[in-house]
Amino acid sequence: MRLKGKTVVVTGAGRGIGRQIAKMMAAEGARVLAVDRDTEALGTLEGIATFAADLTNEKAVADMAAHATELGPLHILVNAAAVVRFGWIDELSYSDWQLTLRSEVDSVFLVTRALWPQLKMKGGSIINFSSASAHVALQGLPAVAHTAGKGAVLAMTRQLAMEGGPWGIRANSIAPGFTVTEETEQHLDNPEMMASVRSKLMIDRLGRTEDIGYLAIYLGSDESGFVTGADFSIDGGATAW
Ligand SMILES: NC(=O)c1ccc[n+]([C@@H]2O[C@H](COP(=O)([O-])OP(=O)(O)OC[C@H]3O[C@@H](n4cnc5c(N)ncnc54)[C@H](O)[C@@H]3O)[C@@H](O)[C@H]2O)c1
Repeated sequence: MRLKGKTVVVTGAGRGIGRQIAKMMAAEGARVLAVDRDTEALGTLEGIATFAADLTNEKAVADMAAHATELGPLHILVNAAAVVRFGWIDELSYSDWQLTLRSEVDSVFLVTRALWPQLKMKGGSIINFSSASAHVALQGLPAVAHTAGKGAVLAMTRQLAMEGGPWGIRANSIAPGFTVTEETEQHLDNPEMMASVRSKLMIDRLGRTEDIGYLAIYLGSDESGFVTGADFSIDGGATAW
């Protein structure tokens, strides 16, 4: 019960890492509001409050924040929602570039801004998602938009940590390497990509959503009270060499 008495908003909670974090935080005693634009995916989260919203839409985010005020002071915000479009620089359309940046960066800005007053009430912990792609170029991955988006989240998180300090708001980011989710599972059948991913691993297995969930619990809890403005790699050592 490491999060007993804590109120949490998790975005992107319909699937993947966000979903895992919502479930693991609820199991640690937190009151969780799971937010996603995919109503069907949210419907599979048993025993957890849900709210459907497209977090790149300012009005929808305002509605979500108004709903979240009913929970009272907010202690933890997990910004995990994102959509990515891959494409080499000479092939990526401008609309795919914009879609990636809107979902990876604008959603973090809009949601954090909307929930900031609730985080200020008692102080809190913001957990954002950068990526291994924010730190290194990944061979074979056409990720120009994704690297820009995740680099932005990495830098924004430090700024949020500074702006939040006086209010007792901490902000940190998690930088996963390749983590198996419903979305990334499609790549498991791509031998070239998997060989490239595995060649960088110091630990001989792929990342799991639980690996990320354990860190999120620590960063959300009071155990990490002196930790802010930091970025944590969870990538089996892939970016360490
Ligand atoms: N899985 C990985 O290998 C990996 C690696 C590095 C970073 N990350 C980052 O971790 C976070 C979680 O990734 P994941 O793999 O679990 O993603 P995912 O694609 O499995 O799930 C993302 C969820 O966000 C929701 N979502 C997307 N855009 C939204 C919007 N505008 N409004 C509301 N909901 C929206 C989707 O519906 C989906 O349920 C992301 O920020 C991602 O960039 C993941």
